[in-house]
Amino acid sequence: MSGSPLRGKTILFGVCGSIAAFKAAGWVSALRQEGAQVHVVLTAAAARFVTPLTFAALSGNPAHENMFAAGMEHISLPAAADAVLIAPATAQTIARLAQGFADDLLSASVLACSAPVLICPAMNARMLAHPATQRNLAALREYGYRIAEPDCGRLACGEEGAGRLVEWDTAREALLGLLAKQDLAGERVLITAGPTQEPLDPARFLSNRSSGKMGYALARTARRRGAEVTLVSGPVALAPPPDMNVVSVRTALEMAEAVSRHAQTASIVVKAAAVADFRAAAFSAQKIKKTAIEPLLALAANPDILAALGSRRRTDQLLIGFAAESGGHEAEGRRKLLAKNADLIVVNDILGSSTGFEADTNQITLITRDSSETLELLSKEETADRIWDKALSLLQERKAAGAETTA
Ligand code: C5P
Repeated sequence: MSGSPLRGKTILFGVCGSIAAFKAAGWVSALRQEGAQVHVVLTAAAARFVTPLTFAALSGNPAHENMFAAGMEHISLPAAADAVLIAPATAQTIARLAQGFADDLLSASVLACSAPVLICPAMNARMLAHPATQRNLAALREYGYRIAEPDCGRLACGEEGAGRLVEWDTAREALLGLLAKQDLAGERVLITAGPTQEPLDPARFLSNRSSGKMGYALARTARRRGAEVTLVSGPVALAPPPDMNVVSVRTALEMAEAVSRHAQTASIVVKAAAVADFRAAAFSAQKIKKTAIEPLLALAANPDILAALGSRRRTDQLLIGFAAESGGHEAEGRRKLLAKNADLIVVNDILGSSTGFEADTNQITLITRDSSETLELLSKEETADRIWDKALSLLQERKAAGAETTA
């Protein structure tokens, strides 16, 4: 993953003595594959579950366990870290950190650390629910540490409940949030993503090839940068991103309704969804027989959601649309910018094999009232970050212009 935001970052990875310690081995490997430098510190109990040798081999760095080794690791390791990740975090280590103890290498390292800290607890549901653990977690939150709330499900002890270590994707998002600049903090962002499906009968529908990857990348990167995110998603095969409000819809009419409900409070609206322009003029409640299908399908036009937002937009709201084009990019993008009264149109080429639908990369042109800029081929996450950079610069321009007129 050449463009991973983890590339070049140094992560101090604390592992505690829970059965979930074996999952930490996979996380270390994933971090390294994304280009991060990982330094693992194990508690004494963790080393009984998974050996330091495993973590040394996977991280490519020595794994540390002993507080009384030759060096001053409890100072040097945190000093070099961009972030600290503790997974699994046991009730014991959480209590140690809450109290500020420094009686092992991991707790001393966290105490000596000024980098952001992510705690991923894993334990029995009753241990987690105990007021002592809850009070300790509250203390860690107060110190500014981020807690990845454990998942519910079957626990290693055989019981069901809350206490499972979160999935790596969730922890990764939280970690990226700690590493990202929080320049979208305070913004309420509404993003649409994916295709819509327009049913003809109980078995058939009209749709398009949108995978939702670009819209989901926009949602994840906005959340990382501190925005409060609502994602209105058509039917896609992607997992809902953590830590945001995800509204699932199917048809263009459902999407229009969800957007108009959430747009009222949004400061930035990004319409990345590939909304079907037409739906069946009449839905058949019974499956249409092959012999009865008319060779010509009667269609009705769907509302243009972006144009509707543009026609009654607030002056303090930033409106961003997409244009999937197979030719005449610049002219089409500019036409849509004006026709839909948007602030920015992101044009992408749907004919390229590494751009547009389904691809993991994209090459876009950003069109505003007075500029046009074509970016290089980038991952969809990097592309999303560049769109947010542009959105922020438009907001700043608007603020500056507002200040000038009131001066
Ligand atoms: O006109 P066209 O469909 O090419 O414009 C694309 C932009 O308009 C995208 O931002 C898309 O989400 C939005 N759109 C919409 N409602 C529609 C069709 C497109 O909001 N019915």
